[in-house]
Amino acid sequence: MTRVIRFNAFDMNCVAHQSPGLWRHPDDQSWRYKDLSYWTNLAELLERGRFDGLFIADVLGTYDIYDASDEAAIRQAAQIPVADPLLLVSAMALVTEHLGFGVTTGTGFEHPYPFARRLSTLDHLTGGRVGWNVVTGYLPAAARNMGQTDQPAHDARYDHADEYLEVLYKLWEGSWEDDAVVRDAVRGVFTDPAKVHHIGHEGTHFTVPGVHLVEPSPQRTPVIYQAGSSPRGVRFAAENAEAVFTAAPTKELLRQTVSTIRRELELAGRDPYSAKIFNLTTVVTGENSEAAHAKHRELLSYGSAEGALVFMSGWMGVDLARYGLDEPIGNVDSNAILSAVAAFQAATADGREWTVRDIAEWGEIGGMGPRVVGSGTEVADTLQEWVEETDVDGFNLAYAITPGTFEDFIEYVVPVLTARGAYQNSYTPGTLRHKLLGNGDRLPEEHRGAKYRIGGPLSTIIDRPSTVPSSSGSTAPAPTSGR
Ligand SMILES: Cc1cc2nc3c(=O)[nH]c(=O)nc-3n(C[C@H](O)[C@H](O)[C@H](O)COP(=O)(O)O)c2cc1C
Repeated sequence: MTRVIRFNAFDMNCVAHQSPGLWRHPDDQSWRYKDLSYWTNLAELLERGRFDGLFIADVLGTYDIYDASDEAAIRQAAQIPVADPLLLVSAMALVTEHLGFGVTTGTGFEHPYPFARRLSTLDHLTGGRVGWNVVTGYLPAAARNMGQTDQPAHDARYDHADEYLEVLYKLWEGSWEDDAVVRDAVRGVFTDPAKVHHIGHEGTHFTVPGVHLVEPSPQRTPVIYQAGSSPRGVRFAAENAEAVFTAAPTKELLRQTVSTIRRELELAGRDPYSAKIFNLTTVVTGENSEAAHAKHRELLSYGSAEGALVFMSGWMGVDLARYGLDEPIGNVDSNAILSAVAAFQAATADGREWTVRDIAEWGEIGGMGPRVVGSGTEVADTLQEWVEETDVDGFNLAYAITPGTFEDFIEYVVPVLTARGAYQNSYTPGTLRHKLLGNGDRLPEEHRGAKYRIGGPLSTIIDRPSTVPSSSGSTAPAPTSGR
C-alpha cells in the first residue's frame, strides 16, 4: 500500500533560518519575521498545502564557536537576531483550523512550572494543535548568559531533562481531573478542589509541591517532539517522543538512524511506529527539471560558506576555522550535537570522507539535511524512494527562501504526491495528536507520561480532604451574597 508521507515546514523566528546568506535573495521574505502578517500568511499557505505542521526551532544563545567569536554569526545573521517562538502561535491558530504548531523550548533554563502553564495555555488557544520540541541545548553561549560557566555535559543534560519532563507530566496529566471544573452557579463552585491534586514532586533539580495552574487542555500533554540521535538522545526520544526529527544527510545514515529509533521505542515498551520520524530535507523544484536546477544554481549564488561554517561549528561543537578547507574533521570530542559530528565522520553519499569544504557547501542551503532538486515528479520519486528505503515517516522541510520554497513545493510536488495517494487528501478532524497518530487526543497508556495520571503507577499526588458538597450534602462554606 502507498504510504502517506507527513510534512512539516521548518522555520524559526529569525532570518534565513538554515540557509545562511539567502536573506540577500530578492524574493526572500524572512527578513519580515518581525511582522505578524508574515507568520499568519505562512500559516494560511501551509494549511492550503495541507502540511501537518509548522515547526519552529529556537536557540537561546549565539553561534560563537566558529573562530572563537560571535562576530561572523552576527554579521551573517546566523540565527541572530532571533525572537521568541511561542508568541507567534496564537495569531497563526486564529487564521487556521488544522495546522499543527511544534514549538521549541529548552529544558536547561526555564523552570518547568511556568513553562507547563504556557504550553497548556497554547493548547487551549489552538484547540489542541500544539506540540513541544524538547531540546536540551547545544550552545555554550546560552549557558554562559544564564549565569553558568559552561553547559552541562551532553548526557547530564538529558538526565536533567528526564526530571524536567517528569514534573511536566505530573502537572499536565496528574493534577486536574477531567471533570474538576463544574461551574455550578447554584452551589457557588467553579472547580471542585477534591479533583485538583497537589503533585508532590521532590526531585534532584526541582521541588514542585502544588497544583497545575491551568485546567486540562484538549491534549493535556502537548505532542512531544524530540531530535536527539546520539545513543542517550535516542533513549530519551524512545521514552518521550511522539515525533522525532533527524537530520541525516545520507540515505544510508537515515536508514540506520530510523531503525535504531524504532528498536529503542520497542525496548521502551512502545509500538515502534508510535513516533513519527521526520528527516530534515530541503526541496528545490519548478515547472520542470531544468527550471529546478537553474533555480538551485541561482539560490546557491546567494549562499554563504562562512555562514554555513558558523552553523556547522555550533552544531558540532567544533571550531571549523581551525581546519584547512580540504581536511576531514577526523576524531574530535564534542559536547554539542553528537549526531552532527557522527554524520560528518560517516562517509559521503559517494563513499568519501567529508572535508570542511564539503561541509561548508552542504550547509549553504538547508542545514544538515539533504537537498532534493528536480521537477515535481522527480522530487516526488525521490521522497518516496527515501521513505521506502529508510522507513522514515516524513520530512521536515527547510526553506532556501521563504515563502517561495514552500509555495513551490505546494504547487509542483503536492499534486503529484496526492495523485499517487502519498499525501493526505484532507485533514483528519481533531487534535494534533489525533491527526498525527490517529489514536485519540491524549497520550496512549503505554507512554511514559500516562503513568503519572491520577491512580497511575508513578502518580505522587497528595490529596486534600473534600470540602465541596455532593448534590445532597453540605460541607462547603455556604456561598455568601454581596461582598
Ligand atoms: C531537525 C532538528 C532540529 C533541531 N532543532 C533544534 C532547536 O530548534 N533548538 C535546539 O536547541 N536544538 C535543536 N536541535 C538539536 C536537538 O534538540 C538535540 O540537541 C540534538 O539533536 C542532540 O542530539 P544528540 O542526541 O545527537 O547529541 C535540532 C536537531 C534536529 C535534528
